[in-house]
Amino acid sequence: MDRELALEIVRVTEVAALNCARWMGRGQKNEADAAATNAMRMMFDTVQMDGTVVIGEGEMDEAPMLYIGERLGTGVAPKLDVAVDPLEGTNILAKGQWNAMAVVAVAPEGTLLHAPDMYMEKIAVGPRAKGRVHLDASVAENLRAVAEAAEKDISDVVAVILDRPRHEHIIQQVRAAGARIKLITDGDVAAALNTAFPETGVDILFGIGGAPEGVLAAAALKCMGGELQGRLLPETDEQRARCEAMGIGDIRRVLTMEDLVRGDDAIFAATGVTDGELLRGVRFIGQSRARTHSVVMRAQTGTVRFVDATHDLSRKQLNGLQI
Ligand code: FBP
Repeated sequence: MDRELALEIVRVTEVAALNCARWMGRGQKNEADAAATNAMRMMFDTVQMDGTVVIGEGEMDEAPMLYIGERLGTGVAPKLDVAVDPLEGTNILAKGQWNAMAVVAVAPEGTLLHAPDMYMEKIAVGPRAKGRVHLDASVAENLRAVAEAAEKDISDVVAVILDRPRHEHIIQQVRAAGARIKLITDGDVAAALNTAFPETGVDILFGIGGAPEGVLAAAALKCMGGELQGRLLPETDEQRARCEAMGIGDIRRVLTMEDLVRGDDAIFAATGVTDGELLRGVRFIGQSRARTHSVVMRAQTGTVRFVDATHDLSRKQLNGLQI
């Protein structure tokens, strides 16, 4: 993929973030998600690519746009797999809390896992601890590995975990091992991403979240040289059949980085909608202007760019949509 595509992709996440940020704290997560999705969909049409949504807003019959299988872009090469989460953290935005983001990953056709909408058990770390943790190792073993890799005491390691009853046993084990914990209400893409940036103060992600979010986070960590391992957790016969259709015969198998994002040619972009440890949220700064903060990265080169952009909203029309 050409490097210019990275800038195009960040324009897509910027516009999604801008269009849903006005819903912050208004308690209407579906409206906010629709605003992000609508703007993202329109911006994709301006990008020179022949993309197909492999991770999106749902199946064709349940999502009006950015549904799985939808074609995106101008229809001209390159042929790409596209993974989107126009508003990652719908509840976060509805309450004006931390780490809502607009997220996109693209990669050559056939290289992103077509993860169905089900749960995935995950472990994620940044580049220092890559190759040292395992989903099937104990929580304490993984924490020790991360501590060693970061050359710090286990009591200085921070594990980030979605605050859910299903994670009570993990929380207890992290506490017993003496590490610190950051419990989050939502948003495990940001949590996984943060493990690759020591300045966020997060070392490792444990727990169960969405499988689509797992692939998006894996794309980010591939660019960063980090690692995410996952295991699909189908709960119904239909979900088990979907796993088989994806070619995952052994459902209990640990999915590696190569299973989630094959090869070394992915682009990941995220724009903050609300403030987070890594990205600032959208700010409406007056005089029809807004500021966005994004990160965009390429796996091929490992370059990570932070894009701090000011937008003149009075001139931001997207196919009739006033952003
Ligand atoms: P949405 O943006 O779809 O609301 O997802 C937010 C999220 O917290 C994800 O980051 C996470 O993977 C998943 O939901 C966890 O699912 P659940 O809320 O069912 O525990």
